[in-house]
Amino acid sequence: MSLDLSASAPSAPDAAEDGVWLECIECGETFAPFEAVRYTCDECEGLLEVRYADLPTWEDFEGRGRGVWRYAAALPFDEGVSLPEGDTPLHRVPRLEESVGVHRLRIKHEGMNPTGSFKDRGMTVGVTVAERLGADRLACASTGNTSAALAAYGSRAGLETLVLLPSGKVAAGKVAQAALHGARILEVDGNFDACLDIVQELAARGEAYLLNSLNPFRLEGQKTIGLEILEEFYADEGRYPDRIVLPVGNAGNTAALYKAFRELVQSGALHPRDVPKLTGVQAEGAAPMVEAIEGGADEVRRWDEVETKATAIRIGNPVNAPKALPGIRETGGTAVAVSDEAITSAQRALAREGVGVEPASAASVAGLRKLRDEGVVEADEDVVCLTTGHLLKDPDAAFAAGNEPESVPNSTDGVLRHLEGRSDGRGRLGKLIGLFSR
Ligand code: F0G
Repeated sequence: MSLDLSASAPSAPDAAEDGVWLECIECGETFAPFEAVRYTCDECEGLLEVRYADLPTWEDFEGRGRGVWRYAAALPFDEGVSLPEGDTPLHRVPRLEESVGVHRLRIKHEGMNPTGSFKDRGMTVGVTVAERLGADRLACASTGNTSAALAAYGSRAGLETLVLLPSGKVAAGKVAQAALHGARILEVDGNFDACLDIVQELAARGEAYLLNSLNPFRLEGQKTIGLEILEEFYADEGRYPDRIVLPVGNAGNTAALYKAFRELVQSGALHPRDVPKLTGVQAEGAAPMVEAIEGGADEVRRWDEVETKATAIRIGNPVNAPKALPGIRETGGTAVAVSDEAITSAQRALAREGVGVEPASAASVAGLRKLRDEGVVEADEDVVCLTTGHLLKDPDAAFAAGNEPESVPNSTDGVLRHLEGRSDGRGRLGKLIGLFSR
């Protein structure tokens, strides 16, 4: 892999506050981090990145407990609005490992965060910045999980929250969370990308503080997924994983993990050859990043029509592509598109190992299986798949993929007869009639 080890940590520009500043990834312009609200570069509208004068080594994290704030040395400040988040399990899945056919397969289950997705890691940092900037209204566009996390963290901070959702395309669990945590839910007659266009405009007009992953502070929190995977995998196996496979929507996580690894390489904490290959997975019906990687393009073409049952990643305009494409390429990774059927079968396979995830999350495992079958991933690789959201986020998808409930009589004997396949007057025909009369 081609990460440049000689690139040392940059020296702080005048704009830095406590060794932290914002820098444009396109033109290099620097800005003070907490002085004014800013999401993109004033000069060229490029994406901004948080930069540090001091980059952490592993020792800096020791003795700081677990979870996102363990990694304070890699974050812009030491503590924040916390529920708390991070410290998610790195599951062993022996049967799945064998059926996929890799040396080691571990599942980093981000669905075990407080609101059931990795978004909490970004929100603990992002909402803290919002407080610091004196914002009183927070907003996001969302395919669901961001809205749930924003609603919870915003409420915790005592701030008003506004979420814009693509009407009819958000899984029930996520809307329920946003509702109960007290967000104002605005359902837009359009897809996620249209919602993001509107919320960016609202933010530009000063109507709300934007907490989508375009906000560079969100990605700082999400870096901790990568730090946790490396630390935990190393503790268990004495080496780092060869590859991390993750579902891609806006490509925020891909960008965040790449940044985490780059900073470790720059501080000397990680050798470039130990950086895992970042491998992105999209649904076939929403795969602009895959198109760009396969076509060797520098820019991602916006897809206006997108469709997939994995509604969390039903996104046609991955706003973090300029940060994520180099991440995939420079780590020697790749990107792959999978069918909805493959996603459902991976969701079932994970569930049979006891790991309950929503469809978008299962895309990582479906993608790994496809790349292994194609010989792109090799049999001797150690792989971590990221599962980004909890099964209960999308109960309809779980019902559709899982077993049918069976009606049984109200007696022990009746239940036993049913289990033996001798159901009382409600054999196969009865069940069929029952199905049609629902
Ligand atoms: N997996 C899940 C469960 C998600 O909710 C998302 C994004 C992704 C993967 C993709 O992550 O954008 O960093 O590439 N959900 C956003 C939302 C868009 O609004 O909840 P990414």
